[in-house]
Amino acid sequence: MADLNKEIEKRRTFAIISHPDAGKTTLTEKFLLYGGAINLAGSVKGKATAKHAVSDWMDIEKERGISVTSSVLQFNYDNYCINILDTPGHQDFSEDTYRTLMAADSAVMVIDASKGVEAQTRKLFKVCVMRNIPIFTFINKMDRDARDTFELLDDIEKELGISTCPINWPIGSGKEFKGVYDRNTKCITTFSDTQRGTKEGAALEISIDDSNLTNLIGESFVNTLNDEIELLDGASAEFDIELVSQGKLSPVFFGSALTNFGVEIFLKHFLKMTSSPLPRKSNIGEISPFREDFSAFVFKIQANMNKAHRDRIAFMRICSGKFDAGMEVTHIQGQNKKLRLSQPQQLMAQERKIVEEAYAGDIIGVFDPGIFSIGDTLCSGSEKFEFEGIPTFAPEHFARVRQVDTMKRKQFVKGINQIAQEGAIQIFQEYNTGMEEIIVGVVGVLQFEVLKYRLENEYNVEIRMENLPYEHIRWIENKEVDLDKLVGTSDMRKIKDLKGNPLLLFVNSWSIGMTLDRNKGLKLSEFGR
Ligand code: G4P
Repeated sequence: MADLNKEIEKRRTFAIISHPDAGKTTLTEKFLLYGGAINLAGSVKGKATAKHAVSDWMDIEKERGISVTSSVLQFNYDNYCINILDTPGHQDFSEDTYRTLMAADSAVMVIDASKGVEAQTRKLFKVCVMRNIPIFTFINKMDRDARDTFELLDDIEKELGISTCPINWPIGSGKEFKGVYDRNTKCITTFSDTQRGTKEGAALEISIDDSNLTNLIGESFVNTLNDEIELLDGASAEFDIELVSQGKLSPVFFGSALTNFGVEIFLKHFLKMTSSPLPRKSNIGEISPFREDFSAFVFKIQANMNKAHRDRIAFMRICSGKFDAGMEVTHIQGQNKKLRLSQPQQLMAQERKIVEEAYAGDIIGVFDPGIFSIGDTLCSGSEKFEFEGIPTFAPEHFARVRQVDTMKRKQFVKGINQIAQEGAIQIFQEYNTGMEEIIVGVVGVLQFEVLKYRLENEYNVEIRMENLPYEHIRWIENKEVDLDKLVGTSDMRKIKDLKGNPLLLFVNSWSIGMTLDRNKGLKLSEFGR
């Protein structure tokens, strides 16, 4: 029991969110470097070499040099066992990206200092807020010309609606980047362009009161720093760990992942400020991570990782206790069937390995013969319960899909339903028309290609897709609403999901506002339960 508690207490499970190119990969590499998990940075998924953490997944991944799935990396640092959940960017952005955040206990938000908050950060941030998880900000690329620091903080507060508390403060930027000032110790760590890939540079630590500081960074920088600190102390929110843990206050750090500056400072503070795995909500109340019985929920299903077999891997987040390879667990949503989790896998830096044991906070992938669905609970012990479900996230791209060969309707319906069950796409139908037309919604456009590829390769069905102009979908929260009487805009479309729930499609956000105005009391939601 004591061992179990010790193992769980040292776990930190977090996701890194950012807009593409802000430096998420570079920062992850530097973290791994500190943990000794890799020897040289640049090997996590160097875009230039198109080398992948896992190379044998889908052909699409190989062809395009991108990773379709979010991966999990585990490494040890300073007596902590760290699980980093990667959230893919660019066009491979998908519902999986959102779901990954369901498995994390906190998030690190990487922001490009010259750009501030960008579109994708905003989207991912919304999910973090929905879960009230702590969010830590790393403002990256300080070695390049940055926007004014106060302006950057203002941008985060206004755009994302979260208070910020700088833990350190940058001195200059770009060619004139001098280092960061630690508000707690009142010391400055000077910037030195450390060799890429090395752990430590010749950074110097010096007190703000040290007379040598002027010689080191120049009088004008010392004066500016003093002015800014005075302004900051008067204006910024005070550090309050309680507010941080509720996701209401984001500690902010500055650095340059590429030159490896400020990364270890961030990591050290971050690990102290975040908590070990927290209790998770279930239908019998909160489940403590320290509970001896094992429990977990499935947050992602990855199909066809091995092309020779049509198998799937179900990724689960362990929420309590310890997992032992081959242990027997109850699959709650599978009529309480008892089963053994086979081939449990974990990703250590670049290598996929079979795990013998894992603890609350860890993520494992198990072989799935087609029985798991997103959100399913698995537990050992006599008490049976279900973890709170994972919401359905609003797709942003829609297409009408038909099979080319009408004789293959059966395979088409089977294939598209199975792919939807894995959570890669969402399928809808016209409301009330009785037409058999299928509308597919996806969070990221790449999923359309994945759908086409998989239907052709796995189900032998060729499809034709016609893009639809809708960009917004809303679930109707108040069930008493009579959809036939609902007055929308001319571009609005009424549809239903597989469970028969009514939904509305809109071309733009203005139409959503209009529809809400015209139907008093109507409640629309971006997340489906
Ligand atoms: P992402 O995962 O968030 O998409 O970003 P990634 O780390 O791949 O970084 C995007 C680009 O920004 C990369 O350059 C990377 O080298 C650069 N970068 C990351 N951190 C810093 C930093 O602190 N300072 C500066 N100046 N650049 C940074 P690239 O040329 O697009 O890719 P690559 O060819 O170097 O891999």
